[in-house]
Amino acid sequence: MNEMNRRTFVQQAGLLSVLACLPGSVLAQIISKTPPNSPFGADSTAEQVTAGLDLSGKTYAITGANSGLGYETMRVLAMRGAHVIGIARTMEKAQEACASVAGQCTPASLDLADFESVVNCAGMIRSMDIPLDGLVCNAGIMALPERELVNGVEKQFVVNHLGHFILINQLMATVMAAPQGRFVILSSRAHRAAPEDGIQFDDLGFARDYAAWTAYGHSKLANALCSLELARRLSGTSTTSNSVHPGVINTNLGRHMPWYLHVAQTLFGWAFMKSVEEGAATQAYVATSPGLVGVNGYYFADCNPNPGETPQMQDEAMARRLWQVSEELTRDYLPAAPAGAAIPA
Ligand SMILES: NC(=O)c1ccc[n+]([C@@H]2O[C@H](COP(=O)([O-])OP(=O)(O)OC[C@H]3O[C@@H](n4cnc5c(N)ncnc54)[C@H](OP(=O)(O)O)[C@@H]3O)[C@@H](O)[C@H]2O)c1
Repeated sequence: MNEMNRRTFVQQAGLLSVLACLPGSVLAQIISKTPPNSPFGADSTAEQVTAGLDLSGKTYAITGANSGLGYETMRVLAMRGAHVIGIARTMEKAQEACASVAGQCTPASLDLADFESVVNCAGMIRSMDIPLDGLVCNAGIMALPERELVNGVEKQFVVNHLGHFILINQLMATVMAAPQGRFVILSSRAHRAAPEDGIQFDDLGFARDYAAWTAYGHSKLANALCSLELARRLSGTSTTSNSVHPGVINTNLGRHMPWYLHVAQTLFGWAFMKSVEEGAATQAYVATSPGLVGVNGYYFADCNPNPGETPQMQDEAMARRLWQVSEELTRDYLPAAPAGAAIPA
């Protein structure tokens, strides 16, 4: 080893020993937040992206765990040894789903359009008194053919975003209590169908120009922006938030689609659609990959970071405003002193 190499070696060893002495939260700030290149892609499955992982001792909560991607994510995480809290719209559905997978699953229920039930579900999870290593906000509805309102707000925005916004805030301290808790929020490439100027703060009831796909895209843009702002609030902690596009998969999500889209899907879906096993891969990867420690504020598709289809996906000002407006809309259901209050707003 020449003098130059020796000096570099000593400097690096010194730096490593200093880093090793730092608390996890400080380390999280220092560790590079750029996601590593993933060996996985569009045709990877949830089983493949978690192969070799031992998740025993970890606990994840997943909404929409009785169907489609949520069910497959629960199945695979439980198979890897995790304790999974499988949340469905009713306790019966949650129990049935949990009973049908191998491993440790605890059923829980909420209706994301009924905020009181979201608060109760979070309370039940908190009462278990175990940190959550991950909260996967997966449940959703798509493309309601007619405009539906919940307390004056468009229903997809309520179910896909506001209900999860309450759950996130109610479980903030529980996720932050884990050594490296992760929020994983299901967005969609359909965010590109959102209105051109993004979140319709002046018309969250979509009184103007309701269109099924526009309103769905609007709610999925809200999911991604919620994750972006949450990530900003979490920076400097060991907890992270990332959003996910799972791909296009034939699940119950399509129940409101017109018949001709079902026909088109049946005829041509093979060319662009993923299986449920592949569709669950990105969220399973983002929730569990040891390579993603400290990776915060990204949008992932096909198990890799993705810039998103529109510049709004990176619009921090819109994300911040969405958070504030969501707080105003859900104020009565948020914890009195949210753990997030410790995080700069
Ligand atoms: N499939 C795709 O191509 C695709 C593409 C992009 C993004 N995504 C996103 O991926 C996520 C999962 O979708 P999926 O394809 O797995 O759909 P899915 O099979 O229809 O599952 C959706 C889950 O959400 C639950 N849910 C619906 N409304 C709810 C409410 N008000 N309260 C509580 N739970 C409710 C459903 O419960 P019930 O069974 O009781 O209705 C179901 O468990 C969604 O967020 C979706 O937007 C999917």
